[in-house]
This record gives sequence, C-alpha cells and structure tokens, in this order.
Amino acid sequence: MASRLCLFGLLMFSISMALASDHSPLQDFCVADTKGQVLVNGLACKDPKLAEANDFFFSGLHLPGNTSNAVGSRVTPVTATQLPGLNTLGISLVRIDYAPWGLNPPHTHPRATEILTVIEGSLEVGFVTSNPENRQITKVLQKGDVFVFPVGLIHYQRNVGSGNVVAIAALSSQNPGVITIANAVFGSKPDIASDILVKAFQLDKNVVTDLQSWF
Ligand SMILES: *[C@@H]1O[C@H](CO)[C@@H](O)[C@H](O)[C@H]1NC(C)=O
Repeated sequence: MASRLCLFGLLMFSISMALASDHSPLQDFCVADTKGQVLVNGLACKDPKLAEANDFFFSGLHLPGNTSNAVGSRVTPVTATQLPGLNTLGISLVRIDYAPWGLNPPHTHPRATEILTVIEGSLEVGFVTSNPENRQITKVLQKGDVFVFPVGLIHYQRNVGSGNVVAIAALSSQNPGVITIANAVFGSKPDIASDILVKAFQLDKNVVTDLQSWF
C-alpha cells in the first residue's frame, strides 16, 4: 500500500514537473532554423549536421543594459531568439540592470519559473500568490543571494541601494514570455474599454483615461 502510494506520488510529481516547464526534447538538440518558415510549437530545427559551436553560444552578458527609461531597469534576454541552440531545451537566461531605485515593474512569465541571483548591489524582490489570498512575499537581497519566482505569479524587483544593481536570472523555458501588468491592462492595442477598467480597478474614469494615455 505504502509503495503504491509512493508510486502514485512519484507519478503526480512527474506530471506536475512535465506541466511546469517546456516539453522535453526528443533528440540531442534542435538548433533553431532562424529563417525557417514552418510554424511549430517552438522553432523548426536546422539540419543537425550543420550545427556548429556558435549555435550554442551567446556573447555580451558582461555589458550593462541601458537603464535610461521611465522605470530605470533593463532586461537583456538570452532566449531561443538570441541563442538558437536553446530551442526545445526548456531554459533561458537574462541579465537585469537597475539604476538607483530602478524598478523591474510587476510582471509574470506565463511559461517559466525564474531563479535570480544578485551579482552587485541590494535588490528588493517580491511576488504575490494567486486568489483568494493574494499574499505578498518579499525580501531584500544582497550580492550572492538567490530568490525564486514561481511560474505564472506576478513579481517585481527594485534597486534599494544607492549604486547600480546587476542580477542574473535563469528561466525554465526557452521562451518564458513576459506580461507587464500595467502595460497589458492600460496599454493594450486597441484599448480595453475604459468603463471595463473603471469597474475592474474601481477607479475614476479620468484616472483610467490618464493611465491609458501614459502606457
Ligand atoms: C540609452 O537610452 C537613452 C534613451 O533611449 C538614449 O538617449 C541613450 O543614448 C542610450 N545610451 C546609450 C549608451 O546607448
């Protein structure tokens, strides 16, 4: 009985693992054919005989991103788009730069859990659990600290030091996707009808119109 329960547990665990990230590859690799016209779930493979070292290589993550923007942060992605060899492998990497008090605004990755480490500076991080609790879990990280943002949950990071912050994060998808909450809700094209947002956010119509013009 105990072993049957154990087996069931293992099965459920593997199923949840399989659903929590990209599908497993069915071959050693599938370097993305960046010029391919075929539309598949992911990117089509180039002929494996033509694969070379540079297909599995990216250079430039030592370079700071430009944080001169409204939020004071910049994400430099290394996903399957920048590194074709990542196609089908279910993993990617980003560098995030933050100016003093710079913010990586609340967003979610629909396809990935994210594990982040601080290389330089002090970084406040947080995520919010799903309904009905909507509990915020937050912490201030220092150089060398590691934090995880579970798949799909809304999260943010903010530089709380006087210097620049650099963080590196790995994500459990070759193409994690990003939904920045404010941009998606108030900056959609075309706009979501303002009366919908007035009711959803319990805001004055002028505030909604103002937000829509801003994003
Ligand atoms: C950084 O971005 C700002 C705003 O887009 C631009 O004016 C500036 O030239 C950029 N700096 C560098 C070093 O690229």
